[in-house]
Amino acid sequence: MKPRVFLTRSLPAAAMERLAAETELHLPPSASAPDPAALLAGATACQALLCTIADTVDSALIEACPHLKVIANFGVGFNNIAVATASKLRIPVTNTPGVLTAATADLAFGLIIAATRRFAEGESLVRSGAWRGWEPLQLLGGDLAGANLGLIGLGRIGTTVARRAQAFDMRIRYWNRTRLPPGEEISLGLEYRDRDALLAEADVVSLHVAYTTETHHLIDARAFARMKSTAVLVNTARGAVVDEAALVQALRSGQIAAAGLDVYEREPALHPELSSLHNCILLPHLGSATTGTRTRMAMLAIDNLLAACADQRPTHCVNPEIFA
Ligand code: DGY
Repeated sequence: MKPRVFLTRSLPAAAMERLAAETELHLPPSASAPDPAALLAGATACQALLCTIADTVDSALIEACPHLKVIANFGVGFNNIAVATASKLRIPVTNTPGVLTAATADLAFGLIIAATRRFAEGESLVRSGAWRGWEPLQLLGGDLAGANLGLIGLGRIGTTVARRAQAFDMRIRYWNRTRLPPGEEISLGLEYRDRDALLAEADVVSLHVAYTTETHHLIDARAFARMKSTAVLVNTARGAVVDEAALVQALRSGQIAAAGLDVYEREPALHPELSSLHNCILLPHLGSATTGTRTRMAMLAIDNLLAACADQRPTHCVNPEIFA
């Protein structure tokens, strides 16, 4: 018998075809994302919930779903899901690591260039019609070659950003909970720093940690006070790793030079002052947004889901202890 799956949002066409062929697919009543009541109604009727990082799957929802055999997240981050509750009920929670590494690292590096070289200000100058021609002192930014890149978090994505940075002749420092073995540091051209030293030294700080209670507001007013006034902050990880109010204050006061953001503390809401700051480039959480990447993510989420529904251990389970 095909598993009953509740899918919260449409996925790339190849994944929709596969779901239609291999599952009994249920969708929200309207084409837009389900509100909490629709999510509850859909999930309680199904054995599998195929959700996204933009859906809140909290304890109350999980506890209300007696048939649930798997919560398959379309995304590598899973801070939208009450994993402890799922574990208590022995429901596997799965994610989609690996397949979005290159796309997210590309976007992070794009933001590093865009914020350092002031693309957003340049673009709005041209679009506004106020540009009066080339000027020797117009919109001068920083050089990437020789600049210090400070990576906070060195998982798959942070490591791939480091590779991109090598090609741009940047000097790369990193902080991570676990330090790499010396041989790997050398082969990646990385130097380890403690977090405060990294913040003080970096021309660009790029964030690549998962969002957890430990990383909540990791970059706060105290962190901004350590950074150079010429420094750029790039966040493609999770919005709440940064205290957004402190960031606005740091950008407004010139405590740091610029920011490149793909993620926000309360998506899709922004801090009310963020969009009026010119030294800030703002993207709508596009890290993994390529057709190929999103298709691979969807296929991996379906693989995970089908395995769990067949009572097998999914390859990418974030609470594997439930199988012990
Ligand atoms: C993720 O997968 O966690 C990204 O933030 C969205 O692609």
